[in-house]
Amino acid sequence: MAITAIKGCNDILPEESGRWQYIEQAARRIFERNGFSEIRVPIMEKTELFCRSIGDTSDIVEKEMYTFIDKGENSVTLRPEGTAGVMRAYIEHKLYAQDPVAKLYYLGPMFRYERPQKGRYRQFHQIGAEVTGVNDPLVDAQVLNMLCAFFREIGLDEPTLQINSLGCPECRPAYRAALVEFLQGRLDRLCDDCKRRFTSNPLRTLDCKVAGCGEATQGAPAMLDHLCGECDDHFSSVKRYLDLTGNQYGINPRMVRGLDYYTRTTFELVTGLLGSQSAVAAGGRYDGLISQLGGPSIPGIGFAIGVERVALLLGERDFSTKPDLFIATMGADQRDMAFRLLTDLQSRGHWVELDYEGKSLKSQMRRAGKLGARYSVVLGENELQAGQASFKRMVDGVLIETPLAADEIALLLG
Ligand code: HAM
Repeated sequence: MAITAIKGCNDILPEESGRWQYIEQAARRIFERNGFSEIRVPIMEKTELFCRSIGDTSDIVEKEMYTFIDKGENSVTLRPEGTAGVMRAYIEHKLYAQDPVAKLYYLGPMFRYERPQKGRYRQFHQIGAEVTGVNDPLVDAQVLNMLCAFFREIGLDEPTLQINSLGCPECRPAYRAALVEFLQGRLDRLCDDCKRRFTSNPLRTLDCKVAGCGEATQGAPAMLDHLCGECDDHFSSVKRYLDLTGNQYGINPRMVRGLDYYTRTTFELVTGLLGSQSAVAAGGRYDGLISQLGGPSIPGIGFAIGVERVALLLGERDFSTKPDLFIATMGADQRDMAFRLLTDLQSRGHWVELDYEGKSLKSQMRRAGKLGARYSVVLGENELQAGQASFKRMVDGVLIETPLAADEIALLLG
């Protein structure tokens, strides 16, 4: 029996890869315009890195990591997200020594052992961006504007931006206590996961997707009403700067996020078009993470975009590229000329196809049509003798007489 891919791990076939390149190239363009440079870090890290950053009681660390013991008896994990590894590298290579402000982006596969469904996979891809070293709320708005600009760049206006603040170690404990008190009388109405979260991570009960938990937590105290003065000022400034960017956003006081490293600003870009997998991109501030991982006390903020979800949102659009020219030949005598034209035109930047198997003219033309070539030409004895041929513009069938010289043909192809 043939071997199949692992459940929840997808092949990106050639017909799909144009869509992926479109997404990745748009992200690179927008990020580089904002001063971000690419960083590439390993997809495997020491397990401890994720426990310390994402949090031991998070769903990701508790249930979803691909963790194994390697042949040297080390516990390693396939990265479930990108921020932890990027910050590990930032600290390890002392990128902060020259300038604590770093603007970094990355793209690549992430791994989570989740129940696969549309928009949720076990190997999935993120495009992420991180800024370190800036407390100023202006940078929160810049990061959010960059994320919205990416979606505009690829022609999607559907995902809407929601923001929240999760406070800081100063104000969150008092809020947590108020929430625990509120939940105490409603414990029996919570799902089993939330009963567990009640002691380990009560805030997570607020964004549980189970309907009963949503009802039970109606009217729960909101973090936004418990922010300390500094967090409150920060959030107000983020909103003011965000207003200056002209991006639309809503405030979602129940947004908690599934990773423990967040402080202050958090956000998600959500869509109603992907069923329960509503977050297309998400992120936030993590002012304590770098010191928690053994680095200096430097703040950070960033986001990650889910590439599969963006690819789904782009719908039926055709992202494939087409050959500029298909050269058909009447017989074996014209194949040398056809091959020379192919290589000369390729060196001038054009994509040229010809038939490899010496098939009939009819089947060659069928292939030209199937490939969607912009132009086609048939080379026979007469064409070679005359040193010119009729090039057919495939959209409308117009014939354009052109010398059989690469420079002249390249001019025609544009
Ligand atoms: P996250 O919310 O866990 O955040 O993931 C970010 C995005 O990755 C999600 O909004 C979603 O689009 C996509 N995603 C997550 N899990 C899956 C999955 N199983 N299948 C398909 N797509 C998925 C983070 O990972 C943070 N590191 C983001 C961040 C960067 N925060 C600060 N900097």
